[in-house]
Amino acid sequence: MTEQKMKNILILGANSGMARALARELASPQVQLILAGRKVAELEKSAKDLEIRGHGPAPKVVSFNALETGQHEQFLPEVLSRVETLDEVYLFFGQLHGQAEAQKDFSLAWEMLMTNYVGAVSILERVAAYMEKRGQGIIIGVSSVAGDRGRQSNYLYGSSKAGLTVYLQGLRNRLARSGVHVLTVKPGFVDTPMTRNKKKGLLFTQPKAIAQGMLKAVRARKNSVYLPGFWKYIMLIIRSVPESVFKKLKM
Ligand SMILES: NC(=O)c1ccc[n+]([C@@H]2O[C@H](COP(=O)([O-])OP(=O)(O)OC[C@H]3O[C@@H](n4cnc5c(N)ncnc54)[C@H](OP(=O)(O)O)[C@@H]3O)[C@@H](O)[C@H]2O)c1
Repeated sequence: MTEQKMKNILILGANSGMARALARELASPQVQLILAGRKVAELEKSAKDLEIRGHGPAPKVVSFNALETGQHEQFLPEVLSRVETLDEVYLFFGQLHGQAEAQKDFSLAWEMLMTNYVGAVSILERVAAYMEKRGQGIIIGVSSVAGDRGRQSNYLYGSSKAGLTVYLQGLRNRLARSGVHVLTVKPGFVDTPMTRNKKKGLLFTQPKAIAQGMLKAVRARKNSVYLPGFWKYIMLIIRSVPESVFKKLKM
């Protein structure tokens, strides 16, 4: 019997509802998880829980703040001082403020744009350089269906995700010949702390289903995936409405 190789997987924004679900799916004796986020005490708690559930090595915990871009250059060397290599990197962190509030207070818009776009690009550029040099690796970026078309009800958040989607697309193109794969994930509405104030309708999905869909897409080496899959058709319709009509809709 051949022994399965150990995989080192870094999760950025590991306290997120979706990231926690993914970590639970991943935890196993063959996976060394590295949980990165702002609230280290919470990450330590998750790490203990995952160690028990997964019967695998204790996840390592590293402090990471997307907004502290000045620290990002040191971040990967710090991670690589704890594990030999990095095989997969999942980017989950994100910030959502209400559109109306962000229109009134630009600091809220700034936080969304800086976290979801600038912070993400800043850390992924470092990850990309490392994986490109190594000639292997997988980067999984969580964007959103909100980035597919600008709407009055969430275009500040949506535009930060549109930027991330195009960034991931360019990164995939850059890295295609180096053996590094980039997957863009576009979830629809997911029941997590981010949507705690939203009324939960039929279109809402549980984070576990998103995590399982992500793993399926990673295994299938998909380039981009809507989760759940029906969002592909919803967004196809939304994108195909002519701008002259779309601009008059209340969405
Ligand atoms: N929920 C949805 O309906 C939905 C739909 C489409 C896409 N998404 C995207 O999916 C991803 C995961 O979100 P979620 O639904 O799981 O929401 P969540 O539970 O609210 O998670 C968001 C995470 O982002 C982290 N974060 C925010 N600012 C950060 C910063 N400056 N540095 C480091 N981490 C930071 C938060 O960390 P703290 O724990 O420290 O606050 C939190 O753990 C996000 O990118 C989100 O935009 C969500």
